[in-house]
This record gives sequence, C-alpha cells and structure tokens, in this order.
Amino acid sequence: MVKVVVHTDVRKSQINKNIYGQFSEHLGRCVYEGIWVGYDSPIPNTDGIRNDVIGALKELQVPVLRWPGGCFADEYHWQDGIGPYETRPRMLNTHWGGVEENNHFGTHEFMRLCELIGAEPYICGNVGSGTVYEMQQWVEYMNNGGQSPMASLRAQNGREEPWNVKYFGVGNESWGCGGNMRPEYYADLYRRYATYVRNYTSESVYKIACGPNTADYHWTEVLMREAGKFMNGLSLHYYTTGTGIWEKKGSATGFTAEDWFTTLKATLYMEELIVKHSAIMDKYDPEKKVGLIIDEWGTWFEVEPGTNPGFLYQQNTLRDALVAGINLNLFHEHSDRVQMTNIAQIVNVLQAMILTEGANMVLTPTYHVFNMFKVHQDAHLLQTHYVSPSYSNGTDEIPQLSISSSVDENGHIHVSACNLSHADSLTVDLDLVGLSGVEISGQVLTASELDAHNSFGSPEQVAPKALEGITVEQNSVRFSLPAASVAVIKIVS
Ligand code: AHR
Repeated sequence: MVKVVVHTDVRKSQINKNIYGQFSEHLGRCVYEGIWVGYDSPIPNTDGIRNDVIGALKELQVPVLRWPGGCFADEYHWQDGIGPYETRPRMLNTHWGGVEENNHFGTHEFMRLCELIGAEPYICGNVGSGTVYEMQQWVEYMNNGGQSPMASLRAQNGREEPWNVKYFGVGNESWGCGGNMRPEYYADLYRRYATYVRNYTSESVYKIACGPNTADYHWTEVLMREAGKFMNGLSLHYYTTGTGIWEKKGSATGFTAEDWFTTLKATLYMEELIVKHSAIMDKYDPEKKVGLIIDEWGTWFEVEPGTNPGFLYQQNTLRDALVAGINLNLFHEHSDRVQMTNIAQIVNVLQAMILTEGANMVLTPTYHVFNMFKVHQDAHLLQTHYVSPSYSNGTDEIPQLSISSSVDENGHIHVSACNLSHADSLTVDLDLVGLSGVEISGQVLTASELDAHNSFGSPEQVAPKALEGITVEQNSVRFSLPAASVAVIKIVS
C-alpha cells in the first residue's frame, strides 16, 4: 500500500500541452505508407493523407508535430519538395535504408497534415548540409504574408496564405548525424543561422537549438553560455533501450521480467538527465525563459525480424505503455523547464502511436497512454507527496509507483499512475487535501502478458478498460493498480 497526498489547492507549473508532441521523419514507413499514400491510392485519403491515421491522430489531440527529421533534416533540401510532383527531384535517403525519396511529401503536404489533425508544425531546418540562405528562404516561404520572392513562389504553388510556423529547430543532432560538430563550433553556427530565421508577424518564431545527446553536459554548458540568449528552446535526445546500453537494444517482444526491470530502470534515467541539464540551464537562465525541448525520446529496440534494419520498425507492448506513462509523469513534474517533447515517432517507427500494414491500421499501447493522459494538456500540476515502495529484481531497486496529478480549467483533477512491478499489484490511498464530496472514475491499461501487444489480427489485446473497485470516503480515495499497469483517475468535486 502507498499513501499519496495530493494538495489540490497548491498549483505548480502549467503542463504545456506541447509535452504531448510527436515526431514524424522521412524514415522507413513513417511518412510514406504510414501517413502519405498519395491522391491515387485505393486507401481512403484526404489530399493523399490516409483517413484512418488522420482520425486516430485527431482523437489524440496532437499539439505539435516535428518534421522532416531527425537525421533526414540535415540532408533535406526543402525546394525539392514543392511544385508539381513530376518535377520534384528523386534522391536517396542515405541515412535511412538508402531507399528512394521522391519528395512527394513536402512542405505543403506536411502543413496539410498538421491542419487536418489540428497540430502546430515544428520544422527542423538543415544546418548540416544546407546554407543559411536556404534556411532563410524556407522560413520566408512558410511565414511571409507580404510581397517577396518566396511568398510569390508559395502562391504559385497554390497557397496564398502563410502558415505562420511557430516552432523552428536550427539543425538536428549537430553533434552526430547533423555534422559531427563540437559545441563551440555549433554554438557559433546556431547564432548565425538563427539570425536569419526572421519574424513576419508580431509573434516571434520560437527557435530551438540543437541540444545535448543524453548526458553530454558539456554541450549544454557551452550552448547556454555562448548562445543561450539567442534561443527559446534547447533540445535533448534520450532513447530507452531494452538493456540500458546503446549498443545492444534488446527485443521489442519476447523479453523476460528481468528485461522489463532493466528497461524501466533505463527510462527512469530521464529524470536525472532533466535535473542535471536543467541545473546548467538555471545557471545561465534562472528565469527559465529557455525551454528544455525533449524532441526525441522513447524506446529503441531491435527491428522486427525480416524488416529493413534502416526502417526502425518495432512492435509496441505493455512495456512501451509503461515507458510512455513514466516519462509523461516525469515531464509533468518538471514542467517548469520542460516545455515540449516529441516522442519518436508517430507511425511505424520506434515507439509508434500507430502501426500500418497496407490498408490496415492498429493503435499501440503507447497510443492508448497518450490518449488517456491527454487530459493533462495545459492543466496545472498539483503538489503531490508520496514515498514509493521499492520494486526489486533481487539485486537492484527502483520505485514501484510513478504518479502525477493536475487540475484542468474546469477544476477537474486527474491523477495518472503507473505500477512498474511486473508481478505485484499496488493499493493506492489518495488523500485529496482541500476537497470534499468527490465523484471518481478511472481507466486502466494492463494485460496478462508483459509483452502483450496489438497486432493486425488482434488489435484489441491491450486497450483501456474501466478501473473497477475505486472506493471514496470523504476526501480519501482508494484504488488498486494491477501489476504492470497504467491508470488515469478523474476526480470531480
Ligand atoms: O528517431 C530516429 C533518429 O534518432 C533520428 O533521425 C535522429 O535524430 C536520432 O538519432
């Protein structure tokens, strides 16, 4: 049993809805097949974008969508992806599988996707192999509502109105696939490129600098020191593998209870990363004006047997649901600094929301967690105290409970909780300080197998169900979390 005290009258930071952001890259079957099927496809579509995926993403209330990469962003030349399809150059996607990229999904198609699902676009510009001029022109093309060469070109391509893109990333993983740079060099390049990311309205573009890989604290130090005052956000990338080490990713399914423990321990490392990078940011930006933007996170396992290793296609199980729930709770708790995150990736790649196969689509356990947790978007974090019981694998220990609570604009309180133990249920006693006479309902996501997942033949193996047996007495609520579960409780007073 664990006692959790929720101070319903102590509001902390606002949970920026952009914490629920997504990432879509020209990688494997994410964009092509997963999103874009083209106008002539027999798969039902709207302007070339598949309707089933649009419907599922609308339901998810995706606040912001990052594109076109990832590593692809630093070899993407945006002018290749505009104009008539027959004149768009074909290229090799050298980073991801060496397959042909026909550039049919470009700026207009991406913006249409964002319109259809109601998401803000977050564009990642090319610093690695692109010029300042090219980046400047792209921003002008997307955002200038007045007269200019790029605004005319946009109109010529069928779009009069600018899109007013709010979020712009200046390069991706510039310490790696985006140019193998040193932080000192990138900091200077960032200052130069970012200068030409112009504003065309009174609302300034939110500029995001390439931040560190995992625990590269030196990168954060140099970027904040040399370029902190020129940026609105600094990115962080951290992936969870099944073994806790990068070189050995582990299998997405068919894993042991020990692998389960190792993966959850590896994902909890996100908290240390946030705390330590934030401490450096605090030194240069005590007012927390610069957001920590975790624009790539999630599980990275071995690809499904028989699939292209460059396509990063993996199954998604109950373990992924726990990884999602734990991270989202961590992001809430650090929402004074974490302003946006983008899980990798939205369809068919890494920890996807959606998997597709031909005309079929399946929603993953991770999708269900995002759907259950979306009630926290833009809500205020509530002060929550508890001492978690330990979950041990015999030699090592991690907390058994991950929990977070918030109050939304209607005064409704939501508590999201994960029971990390693969074997033991957990009774939670919630003490709702400041409330009386409450109505409670809840949903839970769990399964009898740790690697339970949704397949095209069996798409409902892992799906949310009502959480039964919640009891209420005055302002005390008791419920039981099954082993290996994620739940969200709604409290209305
Ligand atoms: O999300 C897959 C890849 O992981 C991205 O392209 C890159 O930025 C990261 O290394």
